[in-house]
Amino acid sequence: MEMWLFSAWDLLAFLTLLSSTVAGEELFDVTVWPEWPTVEAGQALWINCSTNCTHPEKGGIETRNINKAVWKEETHWKAFYLADIAQDSHIICYFTCSGTQKKKSANITVYRPPEQVIFNLQPAWVIVGKNFTLTCHVPNVGPLENLTLTLLQGTEMLHRQTFKTVSKVLQDAWLVFNVTARKEDDKSNFSCYAELDLRPHSEHFFNASSALKMLEIFEPSQNNQMLITIIITTLLLLIFVVTVCLCFVYGQHWRKQRTGGYGVLAAWRIHRNRCV
Ligand SMILES: *[C@@H]1O[C@H](CO)[C@@H](O)[C@H](O)[C@H]1NC(C)=O
Ligand SMILES: *[C@@H]1O[C@H](CO)[C@@H](O)[C@H](O)[C@H]1NC(C)=O
Ligand SMILES: *[C@@H]1O[C@H](CO)[C@@H](O)[C@H](O)[C@H]1NC(C)=O
Ligand SMILES: *[C@@H]1O[C@H](CO)[C@@H](O)[C@H](O)[C@H]1NC(C)=O
Ligand SMILES: *[C@@H]1O[C@H](CO)[C@@H](O)[C@H](O)[C@H]1NC(C)=O
Ligand SMILES: *[C@@H]1O[C@H](CO)[C@@H](O)[C@H](O)[C@H]1NC(C)=O
Ligand SMILES: *[C@@H]1O[C@H](CO)[C@@H](O)[C@H](O)[C@H]1NC(C)=O
Ligand SMILES: *[C@@H]1O[C@H](CO)[C@@H](O)[C@H](O)[C@H]1NC(C)=O
Repeated sequence: MEMWLFSAWDLLAFLTLLSSTVAGEELFDVTVWPEWPTVEAGQALWINCSTNCTHPEKGGIETRNINKAVWKEETHWKAFYLADIAQDSHIICYFTCSGTQKKKSANITVYRPPEQVIFNLQPAWVIVGKNFTLTCHVPNVGPLENLTLTLLQGTEMLHRQTFKTVSKVLQDAWLVFNVTARKEDDKSNFSCYAELDLRPHSEHFFNASSALKMLEIFEPSQNNQMLITIIITTLLLLIFVVTVCLCFVYGQHWRKQRTGGYGVLAAWRIHRNRCV
């Protein structure tokens, strides 16, 4: 009974050995870590390329535009220090096992956190019913497809934009939005809020806010009253000046008719002499 059990175990071991030998190669895997490498622009990153092959023959990584240096290695893994990463790149991790090569690739995402959020309100004084423009600018930020800009009125969300389809080269985010002024917007504080969300592939989440900009509203009624006052005052002044001029000219004309032809200066002299 015991003998038979032993032989069964031997048989099993023999069969396992046979199957792997018959296959001619070992089943193995290549792993790159991190799976979703994410790095701030200009910073460095560790990449670990490993395998579960029993006796790996050759391994490494392939990159372009990145300086790589092997920092540490053991039979089953190689860790590389990639310095000064400036742009998104593609890396390939490979290992050869029993004459077969396997690869695993990963894309390095370079990010730039939003630091400056420049917000503008144009114009700062608006008449009810007229439009004003909100402009939000975040320089040197990326990737834009993971950036969301939110325009706020107080704490209320006015508009939200995620940059879905943009060129990879762009590193500046602009948002321009028009709003029609309402009476209740007077003295409202507007602002812009930026979020760069790289989760879940990386744990990075950044946010930044702009300074507040206050809006002032003019009501048309107030404005009209002011305009009407100005017009009436101007008209009254004009009437007064014209009246004075007419009186003077008419007076001169009348005197000239009565006393004959002498000039204004002479008339003035006569008038002055009379008064004295
Ligand atoms: C390596 O891992 C793969 C998948 O996890 C597995 O199928 C394979 O048997 C493993 N190889 C070795 C030699 O452990
Ligand atoms: C690289 O990965 C292997 C397998 O996961 C691990 O055993 C090793 O410690 C890692 N090396 C470094 C430097 O992280
Ligand atoms: C890397 O990016 C390329 C194209 O940009 C894509 O085809 C590939 O699937 C990506 N690889 C991984 C591992 O995400
Ligand atoms: C970041 O952008 C990439 C590429 O468009 C996308 O696959 C990923 O889901 C985005 N992540 C978040 C958190 O929006
Ligand atoms: C906003 O208004 C300005 C001027 O009124 C106009 O030039 C611009 O095209 C408008 N922008 C949008 C996004 O509607
Ligand atoms: C004012 O803005 C609204 C959207 O807020 C837009 O529909 C309208 O066309 C704009 N008017 C002018 C004159 O720009
Ligand atoms: C806007 O901000 C100013 C000072 O920053 C504050 O005095 C004012 O009450 C705010 N307005 C509103 C409507 O919250
Ligand atoms: C950023 O987000 C955190 C958590 O959501 C929040 O507590 C913080 O106030 C935000 N910072 C800014 C500048 O909005």
